[in-house]
Amino acid sequence: MGERKIKSDTDIFVHDLVDVITDLRNYLVSLNHLGLDYYGPIDNSLWLPPQMPVVMDERKKIPDPRYSKAILLERLRKKIGDCHKCRLGETRTNLVFGEGNPDADIVFVGEGPGRDEDLRGRPFVGAAGKLLDNMIRAMGLERKDVYIGNIIKCRPPGNRNPAEDEIEACFPYLEEQLSIISPKVICALGKFAAQTLLDTNVPISRLRGRINYYTPSIAMDKKISIPVVPTYHPAYLLRNAGQKKVVWEDLKLVMELAGLGKKE
Ligand code: URA
Repeated sequence: MGERKIKSDTDIFVHDLVDVITDLRNYLVSLNHLGLDYYGPIDNSLWLPPQMPVVMDERKKIPDPRYSKAILLERLRKKIGDCHKCRLGETRTNLVFGEGNPDADIVFVGEGPGRDEDLRGRPFVGAAGKLLDNMIRAMGLERKDVYIGNIIKCRPPGNRNPAEDEIEACFPYLEEQLSIISPKVICALGKFAAQTLLDTNVPISRLRGRINYYTPSIAMDKKISIPVVPTYHPAYLLRNAGQKKVVWEDLKLVMELAGLGKKE
């Protein structure tokens, strides 16, 4: 794998065409979700964003198992190792890489590990995690069906907000994970995840309830554009149960984009 090498004018043309189609698709889907559905309902079989290409074993004509998403994630985990790119490496108990189905259609992204996650080395295993599990079950799925990660992989002492240089050091790892998994949709949990993925300061109350788009900044084989549905963080929901109704609306949008059909 590596950066795509453009060899000919035809290649450049196809590359540009993919960009134009992606932008057009994004525009039509946004119109659709503003209620202007003159082009009909979302049909993911037609409108999937460009995904990571599958590397084929040319001799056997099957996907090459050496490049399965599970193996690529494992390799990334090994590459990260005992990371000390920022000061959080000194204070964490465990680095929390993320977990779940490498072939998931849905990835949930939170902020960063809290105390429980730091102790166990797994994302969302505390009180907020229990609520996230319930949200996933309400969608008709199990935790093992989706992938769960965080913007940063190590707990900031005392659960303080991550500093800018810590995000800068760590976010590229998540970008690589998202490029490998290449899900149909990302559900950004809370302001911090949504604003980092979308590179914006727009408040979560304005980002949620609609489709936004994330493009990994690291160059993979093709331009990948992944729909992002921001919603409130489960920890916020624990303190503001009245917002559960709007979160359910967001989760229904996630399901629709994942091709799980419309839920009432
Ligand atoms: N909150 C987060 O944002 N992530 C976790 O993994 C746990 C709590």
